[in-house]
Amino acid sequence: MPAARSASGPARWGLLSLLILSAFSHPAAGFGAAKKAYMREKVRKMFYHAYENYMAHAFPHDELKPLTKTFTDSLSELGNLKLEYLPQNYNGSALSLIESLSSLVVLGNFTEFQRGVLWLSDNLTFDVDARVNLFECNIRVLGGLISAHILATDTKSRLDHGLYKNQLLNLAEDLGQRFLPAFDSPTGLPYAWINLKNGVMENETTETSTSGCGSLILEMGALSRLTGDSKYEAVALRALRKLWSMRSSLNLLGTTLDVVTGEWIECSSGIGAGVDSFYEYLIKAYILFGSDEYWDIFHSAYLAVQKYFRHGPWYHEADMRTGRATYWQLTSLQAFWPGLQILVGDIAAANSSHREFFHVWQRFGVLPERYLLDHDMLHPTERYYPLRPELAESTFYLYQATKDPWYMEVGESIINSLNSYAKVDGGFASIRDVMTMQQEDHQHSFFLSETCKYLYLLFDDSFLADKNYVFTTEGHLLPIRSSWHEKLPESYISNWTSIKNGNQGTHASAMSLQVCPAMFIGGNITPWVESACHVPDSRVDHRCITDDDCGIDSTTCRRRTCSMAGYCGLWLFIL
Ligand SMILES: *[C@@H]1O[C@H](CO)[C@@H](O)[C@H](O)[C@H]1NC(C)=O
Ligand SMILES: *[C@@H]1O[C@H](CO)[C@@H](O)[C@H](O)[C@H]1NC(C)=O
Ligand SMILES: *[C@@H]1O[C@H](CO)[C@@H](O)[C@H](O)[C@H]1NC(C)=O
Ligand SMILES: *[C@@H]1O[C@H](CO)[C@@H](O)[C@H](O)[C@H]1NC(C)=O
Ligand SMILES: *[C@@H]1O[C@H](CO)[C@@H](O)[C@H](O)[C@H]1NC(C)=O
Ligand SMILES: *[C@@H]1O[C@H](CO)[C@@H](O)[C@H](O)[C@H]1NC(C)=O
Repeated sequence: MPAARSASGPARWGLLSLLILSAFSHPAAGFGAAKKAYMREKVRKMFYHAYENYMAHAFPHDELKPLTKTFTDSLSELGNLKLEYLPQNYNGSALSLIESLSSLVVLGNFTEFQRGVLWLSDNLTFDVDARVNLFECNIRVLGGLISAHILATDTKSRLDHGLYKNQLLNLAEDLGQRFLPAFDSPTGLPYAWINLKNGVMENETTETSTSGCGSLILEMGALSRLTGDSKYEAVALRALRKLWSMRSSLNLLGTTLDVVTGEWIECSSGIGAGVDSFYEYLIKAYILFGSDEYWDIFHSAYLAVQKYFRHGPWYHEADMRTGRATYWQLTSLQAFWPGLQILVGDIAAANSSHREFFHVWQRFGVLPERYLLDHDMLHPTERYYPLRPELAESTFYLYQATKDPWYMEVGESIINSLNSYAKVDGGFASIRDVMTMQQEDHQHSFFLSETCKYLYLLFDDSFLADKNYVFTTEGHLLPIRSSWHEKLPESYISNWTSIKNGNQGTHASAMSLQVCPAMFIGGNITPWVESACHVPDSRVDHRCITDDDCGIDSTTCRRRTCSMAGYCGLWLFIL
């Protein structure tokens, strides 16, 4: 018996009660052009309410406190749960402005974009005595600057080119330089924390996370391509290779590790916090740079997720060494996974997981940070909803792939919840407890860079009409360029993520566009496959002794099991 199944017993009741909720889903009503425009304008108002309040009450500090209409210089606090080594003399880096730039372009506000770009060009400095989290600073600040630089030099941006002379790229390069000491460890894995002025602190913690080591390649790779200096990409790639070399025989990774010894600290992992963007950056690095190495790692890692973490539409955690299920928890961050599955063509699987996440959203009004599936209850302390984007993000991808108007209804429901529970006079406040909807005095910068952007693009994707982009894990746009790409075919550049003629059933993805490499399946070379999750049974005649002899079904992405008669198949084992 696979380990995951023996743990599934107590979980069933929790899963059952969530399943019953699914029975109440409504059929999709029409979503006409007028309604789409109305929703788009609603999102535009949300963005400006958040942005203008930030500019009025917090800028140039990092983030807005919308209840008290003041600010927090939170860059040094991100990921710093114990609030250690806080800077004494740090007045912020205009974090929320940096995060807003790419959204301003998507919304078509070039005047405000230019104003922001020029302010940062003149006033932003990283020569500050502040200890920051490398991962957070990379995805938010470096990613925000690089994306804004590319958009500023784009012909579409209508930026006054006499005024823009690569200032944001220079800032990005300065920041990238300041990241480099973090990679100076015996393993090449980066320290989680870096002081922007002084490098790695002498007695700095050696503990970091899988996503901390594995989510740097898009920004650092783009920085290298833009500056012509390969060292940024080289350190990020070295860390990624080292991380993958630490996988178990099951192709699983843990969640936390030591950058000096190269050993795992927490061996349980899933697809949520501490790991999520590791998977995301492998497939997106493959899309952006075209190197088969990214695809090969991604594909092995993705198959292991489907095999060891997936249980019907849910994903639990498992021990990397044994594959045994550890925690049966749904976390808000996991809601990005269906969006990633769209990129690899697993549309049916994405659809079913997304629906379950949305049912949890409907049940509570927003998504709780953590829900205990095995006890069918909220986590005792992690009951907050900090306006996270992941469900909106997946909804956007699913709509792009299927054009099913039902996803617009999901978007409408998300927008209505945000306006009724989180909107306050001074911006949008996080929710501290989804049971009471008590608010918290914090407007995270990702609300501007991601939540509003994905909701806007759900109702108006005209920005994506003539170019293909990948979105970083912070929602910043990076265009797909043949000059950055190892083997870009023409169809790929014009037909990648934009998925223009996605009639229902059209699987517009990396897979169906045939840009993924050939794969060996069942001993035969297959020129392309529709789905990335297929794992053949270990014997061609499908005979088996235990479930371990069976693979993953290519159409449903479900694990096949061994029947009493000794054949692999999709025998029902969930419920
Ligand atoms: C931060 O602001 C305080 C108060 O305005 C000021 O005294 C201090 O010099 C500023 N620090 C830096 C590094 O700009
Ligand atoms: C651009 O943003 C500024 C600042 O929020 C706002 O005043 C202005 O109306 C916006 N312009 C457009 C065209 O939306
Ligand atoms: C830089 O900041 C100063 C002080 O806030 C401001 O007066 C100046 O206009 C800013 N520079 C630009 C180009 O916006
Ligand atoms: C670590 O070093 C910092 C300064 O570099 C110091 O403030 C702090 O007290 C030290 N912590 C420990 C536990 O030694
Ligand atoms: C998504 O799931 C729903 C409910 O099971 C189904 O009606 C719909 O056809 C599915 N869509 C896709 C694209 O798989
Ligand atoms: C892109 O897709 C469209 C259909 O969506 C197709 O007609 C066109 O030929 C494709 N472009 C290239 C360059 O393959």
